[in-house]
Amino acid sequence: MANKAQLILEGKTYEFPITEGTEGEKGIEIGDLLEKTGAVTLDFGYKNTGATKSAITFLDGDKGILRYRGYSIEELAAKSTFLEVAYLLIFGELPMKDHLQKFSDDIRQHTMVHEDIKKILDGFPSTSHPMGVLASLFCAQTAFYPEAMDPNRSAEGVYLSIVRALAKMPTFAAWAYKNAMGHPVNYPDNKLDYCSRFLKMLYALPAEDYHVDPVVADALDKLLILHADHEQNCSTSTVRIVGSSKASIYSSISAGINALWGPLHGGANQEVILMLEEIRKDGGDTEKWINKAKDKNSGFRLMGFGHRVYKNFDPRAKIIKKAADDVLKKLGVNDPVLEIASKLEEVALRDSYFIERKLYPNVDFYSGIIYRALGIPVDMFTVMFAMGRLPGWIAQWKEMRENKEPIGRPRQIYVGQKLRSYVPIEKR
Ligand code: MLT
Repeated sequence: MANKAQLILEGKTYEFPITEGTEGEKGIEIGDLLEKTGAVTLDFGYKNTGATKSAITFLDGDKGILRYRGYSIEELAAKSTFLEVAYLLIFGELPMKDHLQKFSDDIRQHTMVHEDIKKILDGFPSTSHPMGVLASLFCAQTAFYPEAMDPNRSAEGVYLSIVRALAKMPTFAAWAYKNAMGHPVNYPDNKLDYCSRFLKMLYALPAEDYHVDPVVADALDKLLILHADHEQNCSTSTVRIVGSSKASIYSSISAGINALWGPLHGGANQEVILMLEEIRKDGGDTEKWINKAKDKNSGFRLMGFGHRVYKNFDPRAKIIKKAADDVLKKLGVNDPVLEIASKLEEVALRDSYFIERKLYPNVDFYSGIIYRALGIPVDMFTVMFAMGRLPGWIAQWKEMRENKEPIGRPRQIYVGQKLRSYVPIEKR
């Protein structure tokens, strides 16, 4: 019975094939389970359910491994650039020099957005969260590029949509921030590289001869690499299931942006800093807040610790922690909130309560610290996560389309009322 799983249900035995991945992961193929047995599986949050076969990202939660197309996150973060990693994720191989140059030039050609986007932007009050503005502006591209909605679009057409998505995301992100500040927007300076172009749009004031700090640009490039993909997380699964209905790349990714916004997902980095600020305002007594976290009745949860997938440590967190230390040193940042973070980190890494529960600092704990040190406003932290995750969302949407995967349609176990007759309102 090699490569088969047996299920015994109501005295009958059923067999299902087992598929094995490149790294030895096993999946029980139950595509005909309902047809064969009359039963469905039930797996809240799909934590035990594989939704696809993917060649993009491999992660091992027990060993703390993360690889994009087989390359370790450690190597890519140390040696690559965000646009090169985006190319790798989307097209499957590290680019030759001329291919990367063309990819970068193609993106550079599309950083401008239609002036009518400003009319949409102007409709958002300055109190709008930048993630809501970003999701709307990103989806609005379907209005300006309706050809992208063709589900059978040519490979060249899909490439153009991909380039436009990568090119305009930083512009939308910076404009969402300027809208929140009530400041005029900046147009992209195409003489600059990807991250510098974004930072100048984000920070430059009208008529200012703004110069981007290369330390900040390099740190941002590394952060975007570390966030570029993470297999079938909540927002990526959202992009895939929306895309499975043959919705456009822009609609699918706009849905992903909305999924990422949640505080249990991409919004966690914003929650970390808000938590640290609360501890600072309360006097900075980390011991008191650590004890609150241990007290089930306190209702307080330490944000930025532990992970659904990684059981021992988040490999990205290790890299970001080093980057955070480097950036704070280079920028000479002395922020009381950051000192509180260091104390929390120190306790979490040695306190048995946290060790037993695998509550170690994760990628969101440190990314919030770096973004703050880079001067990025807290409401923009999740927008930065979205900018980083964009190539992963694109790669996963493209893979799902190329594999001609079926529309996603999960089943359920119904627990509602049995059949009953309508009662006229006068008789209720
Ligand atoms: C991510 O990078 O998407 C987050 O760590 C969440 C996850 O993978 O579930």
